[in-house]
Amino acid sequence: MRVLGISGSLRRGSYNAALLEAAGRLLPPGAELVRYEGLRDLPAYDEDLDREGEPGPVARLRSQIAAADAVLIATPEYNASIPGALKNAIDWASRPYPENALRGKPVAVIGASTGIFGAVWAQAELRKVLHHAGARPLEEELALGTAAQAFGPGGELRDPELRERLGAIVAALVREARAPVALAA
Ligand code: FNR
Repeated sequence: MRVLGISGSLRRGSYNAALLEAAGRLLPPGAELVRYEGLRDLPAYDEDLDREGEPGPVARLRSQIAAADAVLIATPEYNASIPGALKNAIDWASRPYPENALRGKPVAVIGASTGIFGAVWAQAELRKVLHHAGARPLEEELALGTAAQAFGPGGELRDPELRERLGAIVAALVREARAPVALAA
């Protein structure tokens, strides 16, 4: 079971990348987290580019999503919304529409911010966008606020309750990926 992990931050030392790593360590046996590292390389979405032939970084994004059983996204919040680079990746992944790499894919969204709210608006908007693209976003969210204080020296979440909730989210994601999909009549 392959879970593709996408951090919506390009920042070195990103708390969302750290949250993704912490989530990866809580995956149940038989599931592994594979990090998507290409966010920085994606051009800005352009329908002409898409029609003229898939740029290499876009092909890699689409094929990595297609090859994954599930996707786990950790998003920062920029100005109460999804960071542009991450939204751009979802826009690329959403085409061709409706038969794109995200269609029917279970996706869990989590997020970290340095403020107290833990990127809740960005997470809500990301779920909306994923749903529109045809993915199956889980309802569960993990809002990690005051992220600068949240991690222990080994990269683990200090708060046992948050650790437990994160474990429950990744377990739910794996269950969702293993569940047979009901086909529309
Ligand atoms: C932020 N930050 C932020 N935080 C938040 O809770 N709500 C917000 O609307 C914003 N807006 C925002 C805009 C921009 C342009 C920046 C650079 C930052 C703070 C943000 O949570 C913080 O920088 C996190 O550390 C970003 O996540 P990473 O890079 O640590 O994963």
